[in-house]
Amino acid sequence: MFQITESAFTDPAMFQGGVLDDGPAWMPLGTLGHSRPLVYDTKNGSWISVLRARGAGTIQRHRHSAPVTAWTMDGAWGYREHDWVARAGAFVYEPAGHIHTLYIADDPGHMLAVFHVFGPLIYLNDDNTPADYEDVFVRMDRYAAYCRTAGLGEDWVRSLLR
Ligand SMILES: [Fe+2]
Repeated sequence: MFQITESAFTDPAMFQGGVLDDGPAWMPLGTLGHSRPLVYDTKNGSWISVLRARGAGTIQRHRHSAPVTAWTMDGAWGYREHDWVARAGAFVYEPAGHIHTLYIADDPGHMLAVFHVFGPLIYLNDDNTPADYEDVFVRMDRYAAYCRTAGLGEDWVRSLLR
């Protein structure tokens, strides 16, 4: 009988406590939001992060080239193109190819959700011309640049890499 053992090539398990605590790990995102990355999965081109936004309003319009999942923990948010509103406990699956505009609902005017984003994200202007582009590497490079200004070292950024 053969045995199934742990490969020497696996990455160590990652545990992070207190990820919702305030602190420099939260990178400002636009005028309303902050992003707290949990995992940069460069092997699969994906990333997991918590999005916290305060103040009602539109965050950004974008198109995904691969699926996204979102788990809502607090507040209320949605996409202008859909009539649902995600509140605590809501799960959202965004198929590849969708274009939508993230907003924070007036009631209660804030949101807290975990997003698992696969593949590239293309930010769009109102006329559908591309305004910006992000993949896991762009995202990680931008976070690393922020961390240098926030006093967090590269070891911190690398600890999120899988
Ligand atoms: Fe999206």
